[in-house]
Amino acid sequence: MRHFSVAITSLTIFLSSLMFSLSAQANQPVWCDEALSEDEKVEAILSQLTLEEKVKLCAAQGKFTTPGVPRLGIPELWYSDGPHGVRAEINWNDWGYAKWRNDSVTAFPALTCLAASFDPDLAYLYGQSLGAEARYRKKDVILGPGVNIYRMPLNGRNFEYMGEDPYLASVMVQPYIRGVQENGVATCVKHYALNNQEIDRGHINVEVSERALREIYLPAFKAAADAGAWTFMGAYNQYKNQHCCHNEYLNKILKEEWAWDGAFITDWGGCHDTEQAVKNGLDLEMGTYTNGLTSESKFDYNHYYLADAFLQGLRNGKYSQEQLDDKARRIIRLLLRTNLNSHRPWGSLATGAHAKAAQKIAEGGMVLLQNKDNMLPIVKAPKRIAVIGENAIRNLMQGGGSSELKPKRVITPLQGIKERFPEAEIVFARAYDSGKAMYSNEGKPTHNLDSLHAEAVRAAAQSDIVIFVGGLNKNHKQDCEAADRYSYELPFNQPKLINDIAAVNENVVVVLMSGNAVETSWAPKVKAIVQAWYAGSEAGYAIASVLSGDVNPSGKLPFSFPKKLSDNGAISYGQLSYPGDGVKQVYMEDILVGYRWHDTKKIPAAYPFGYGLSYTTFNLSNARCDANTYASDGKIQLSIDIENTGSRDGAEVIQVYVSDVKSSVARPYQELKAFQKVFLKAGEKQTVSLTIPVSSFAFWDETSSSWNTEAGDYMLRVGNSSRQISANIRVKVKAE
Ligand code: BGC
Repeated sequence: MRHFSVAITSLTIFLSSLMFSLSAQANQPVWCDEALSEDEKVEAILSQLTLEEKVKLCAAQGKFTTPGVPRLGIPELWYSDGPHGVRAEINWNDWGYAKWRNDSVTAFPALTCLAASFDPDLAYLYGQSLGAEARYRKKDVILGPGVNIYRMPLNGRNFEYMGEDPYLASVMVQPYIRGVQENGVATCVKHYALNNQEIDRGHINVEVSERALREIYLPAFKAAADAGAWTFMGAYNQYKNQHCCHNEYLNKILKEEWAWDGAFITDWGGCHDTEQAVKNGLDLEMGTYTNGLTSESKFDYNHYYLADAFLQGLRNGKYSQEQLDDKARRIIRLLLRTNLNSHRPWGSLATGAHAKAAQKIAEGGMVLLQNKDNMLPIVKAPKRIAVIGENAIRNLMQGGGSSELKPKRVITPLQGIKERFPEAEIVFARAYDSGKAMYSNEGKPTHNLDSLHAEAVRAAAQSDIVIFVGGLNKNHKQDCEAADRYSYELPFNQPKLINDIAAVNENVVVVLMSGNAVETSWAPKVKAIVQAWYAGSEAGYAIASVLSGDVNPSGKLPFSFPKKLSDNGAISYGQLSYPGDGVKQVYMEDILVGYRWHDTKKIPAAYPFGYGLSYTTFNLSNARCDANTYASDGKIQLSIDIENTGSRDGAEVIQVYVSDVKSSVARPYQELKAFQKVFLKAGEKQTVSLTIPVSSFAFWDETSSSWNTEAGDYMLRVGNSSRQISANIRVKVKAE
């Protein structure tokens, strides 16, 4: 019997090789045959491959590459971080930079900034531009975007994600994916799932209710799968006591429930077991070291869990041909979509157009948090401006972990401000020194901190206005992978600095560069605050445009700024909730993440979700729906008039939050279900129409394990921030 099946297999391979060479004779490899569908091509290629060739596809051959099939001319796959630009080349076999001279790129703003734009068109522009750079750099897979939900403000990687709201992240992630993949470059959506902190990320077991999983932590991943992301990356942590890179439950949701046809990739070194990897949907194993896990050099890539051990298990019958073929099919599909696609564009690198795109995204995402006495914009520069703070001169693309970039150019805030206000005398004071950005150690200052502090206060006293450029940076234990932040306060003695500067100068503008909320009890002392994120290569120009009013700020916070850390839901439950006991953590705040917590528990945030000021004013009026009563599968058409009542052009984000008036289960006070950014000239008025599917009102019903849109009354709250609601409209959902 065994001999018979071997004979059949050999015959199949022989026949298909014949077909293959026939099409090759026609000078056309099978993947170029326009008459074949993607599925037919997959099957045609699959039928050519030997057992060994299929297994080879499944594991790395270098830090950022997996093998092709040399015998058939099928190329290797090349990967790169992600998600804010294409990372510099890394050595084949270790984490050192390869020091190429052709790998300088455009650094795009961090994903928090993109999310803050509330502008899906910018997400598409981001994806298109990044995809073109990845393509030019000959990358087939870009490791991003990240859509883990912002659960609390200490997570070292929040800056790589899209905020605390699953709906916002879902809307923003889809055009990013489309834009990148139009270049024939795959996105890799990470980190699936529940990777919401860096402390103990390699092993911590996350306990979370099914409802919070479905309502909060999975929707953006589902949106990414629906948008057709070609790959996903597993998270390092565990869920249901199984690592997420080969997790039975999460894999079933992704590949069976959502019917996703892409290839599932480990995070680097995230695979721990061959059997689980084979059975639970891991397709591509990538590694941190050459045994896939923790140690270097004496191993080689054949020691990966999906390499020799997998092959052996297939040969001795432990694993089945079907298990192997499912992985091989998914990888072939990825190849067809990327480097076997002869129609993909060629890409371009660090172009003027990409710099413009980066600046536009940065400008679109900046959030004006405070503007007393209309301090901003600085329309007419005063005689002397003090620019104070290390972030005014720091390359914030360095550090942060795997998202670190080597930009072709960096416009610092100091340069941007100098160029924008040539008529003013600009005095710069560094004010603090945080040392070199390092991944796993804190940088050591090389300056005397007391003299820096004193010099800054002196400069402030002698200037007409102060632009303080501070915040966090990408150092270890700031906004950086592999560890969480030390504390919620601004680091490097900045609160004292701001207080001391404000004591000698009453015109202080604070520009915060960070990917996380920070404590802001110093805010009453200063006039204006701009949340400027990590704004990429063109950060300095974008900041100068916002400060000068060339661009009217229109970003909105994609996460809440709690007044104090303990006001955050996850933190308020103590150690078991965050950061856990070293083995497990329990998401005790459940579905009440971010503003859902603040609003439901009536704990006001310092700056709430969806909040952001403008240099103009808007009036929202006449909000109405197209009916009073809807079927549970119906669609609500909500219209509202909006007028720019100020004297500057600008943009406002109309936001619709929904509350279930009476529910059989506890629900958040309100949840974002629609938004639209509207650009209006000064004095212009528009009617805006938003479509809201009634099904989006559903909660995850743990008793039936399905979405449940209960009949009854719902309140639609329309406004320009979660805490600034201009109209409440009551609608009814009919019983089935
Ligand atoms: C990170 C991933 C990254 C990978 C490759 C891991 O440590 O968690 O996000 O893509 O390294 O650099």
